[in-house]
Amino acid sequence: MSSEPAIVFEGVVKRFGPRRVLDGLALSVAKGELFVIIGPSGTGKSVTLKLASGQLFPTAGTVRLLGEDLGALGSRALAKLRRRVGYLFQSGALLGWKTLAENVALPLAERDRLPPAQVEGRVRAALAEVGLADAGDLYPAEVSGGMVKRAAFARAIIEDPEVLFFDEPTSGLDPVMARTVDNLIAQVGRARGATCVVVTHDLAGALRYADRIGFLKDGRFLQVAAPDAILHTPVPEVRAFLEAQRVEHRP
Ligand SMILES: Nc1ncnc2c1ncn2[C@@H]1O[C@H](COP(=O)(O)OP(=O)(O)OP(=O)(O)O)[C@@H](O)[C@H]1O
Ligand SMILES: [Mg+2]
Repeated sequence: MSSEPAIVFEGVVKRFGPRRVLDGLALSVAKGELFVIIGPSGTGKSVTLKLASGQLFPTAGTVRLLGEDLGALGSRALAKLRRRVGYLFQSGALLGWKTLAENVALPLAERDRLPPAQVEGRVRAALAEVGLADAGDLYPAEVSGGMVKRAAFARAIIEDPEVLFFDEPTSGLDPVMARTVDNLIAQVGRARGATCVVVTHDLAGALRYADRIGFLKDGRFLQVAAPDAILHTPVPEVRAFLEAQRVEHRP
């Protein structure tokens, strides 16, 4: 059914041993939506992305991705579904023994068996998009943290996935490069119609491109709303978070 949301969480509980990280989380992200998750450190934002992408599974409740109940899929069906998904890890997570270009090419090499010339062309275009046109032959150890992050971004989008998860895509980037990456997120969301879920501390960026923002704390969303409503939030915890970042409403 095409009207079904891209992502649905119902009553999701996630425990690690005695620690209950998510406590009955509900979430619905529409197809093509740009959804941003904010909230304090250690509150379960990365865990939420991993649940949404089938890297972790809930202790209770259900997670649906592109119409499939992730908990009910066998490993082969799950692997197939994951091909429709791109993921930028918080750490970047590049392979240290491969060049940036080889890292960016990984999803293509693994899945599509494209001719090398085509792979090279797509990798070059993706690297150029993130401002790394001349860095493809370097190894992760030879470049800055921001460059690792941007290469990981190129790798996440290279297959034109239907759903994209970005975990802190702009942390460690200078303000100009952060703006470039924000624009890329907006562009893959808007121009390519991908569903994007972004975890970020960069609220100013999120306010520019998000359709909705969810504030996660104590295992649940305290507020889910459009950027403007978040700016005028009546929720004290969200207010405090905005004030700490000095994000002010400009009429
Ligand atoms: N695999 C795991 N095993 C045990 N505990 C975990 C695991 N993954 C996450 N946690 C715990 O779950 C909680 C939430 O972690 P998570 O990484 O989602 O936080 P976060 O909101 O992304 O924080 P940050 O903003 O610092 O990245 C933390 O207390 C963390 O220690
Ligand atoms: Mg995190």
